[in-house]
Amino acid sequence: MKIFKTIREAQEYIPEMKSQGKSVGFVPTMGALHQGHLSLLGRANLETDLTATSIFVNPIQFNNPEDLAKYPRTLESDIAKLEEMECDILFNPDVDEMYPEPVLDRYDFGHLDKVLEGKYRPGHFNGVAVVVKKLFDVLTPDRAYFGMKDYQQLRIIQTMVEKFGLPVEIIPCATIRETDGLAMSSRNVRLSAHERSIAPAIYRILQDVKNKTGKISVVEAETWAINQLNKYEEIEVEYFKIVDAKSLLPVGDWNDVVSAVACTAAYLGNVRLIDNIILF
Ligand code: PAJ
Repeated sequence: MKIFKTIREAQEYIPEMKSQGKSVGFVPTMGALHQGHLSLLGRANLETDLTATSIFVNPIQFNNPEDLAKYPRTLESDIAKLEEMECDILFNPDVDEMYPEPVLDRYDFGHLDKVLEGKYRPGHFNGVAVVVKKLFDVLTPDRAYFGMKDYQQLRIIQTMVEKFGLPVEIIPCATIRETDGLAMSSRNVRLSAHERSIAPAIYRILQDVKNKTGKISVVEAETWAINQLNKYEEIEVEYFKIVDAKSLLPVGDWNDVVSAVACTAAYLGNVRLIDNIILF
């Protein structure tokens, strides 16, 4: 695997490969790699000639400095996992390389980045869009792979690609879970053993809501889920919302939309977890 720390190294190598007719599949990450990340890379390996992963803990997408400081950094074991997966390129820039100047770009995604995560993490999606756009510019992927785990992020990236007509195909990939249902996340390692034992409740309740789709009203389903989560004194729900899968606008009635997704964020101790389920 080639490891590039600078934009220049990447820009010297990738166009050369592309001129030989090789397609590039790209998996952007912030490291602390787990099976969720690796499943994206596995898919890229199948579908493209050259696979590139980035590891960059992007400071401008953290609205909470403590979250940034505590974000797990495990570069050595990440590299070993990427080599095992036969990843061709790792792009692992420093902050100064990505942001030599203060970042002033502001993207407008309408309400898409104001609801759900956007409401509780102001500026987060602007930071995500800035870094993903820059990574696309540097690595020029033909396809880029994003997890459904971060459903709103996926919708925002799809919207950015449409809006700017970027020459990259966005491939949504299923959420990979632990055997007890907990969505894999780099933040899971920060859960205490007790919190970890409770965490699967989030996905169980999402599945229960899926089973209730159409049988009770949307508001009743949301309220039911929040009450269920609140039964655990260790869990503090930030939101539980059923939204249109495309626009992310609230759903009034099940019949109003062609596809709906239930999205939730909850604290377990001081670890913030997000998850979602496609209802229909
Ligand atoms: P990160 O949280 O490291 O996630 C990188 C990619 O892995 C994202 O597309 C995310 O949705 C996907 N992913 C994470 N957990 C997953 C799981 N359990 N199953 C399937 N896919 C999973 O998301 C980011 O980094 C950053 O915001 C980034 C896009 C890299 C921009 O900085």
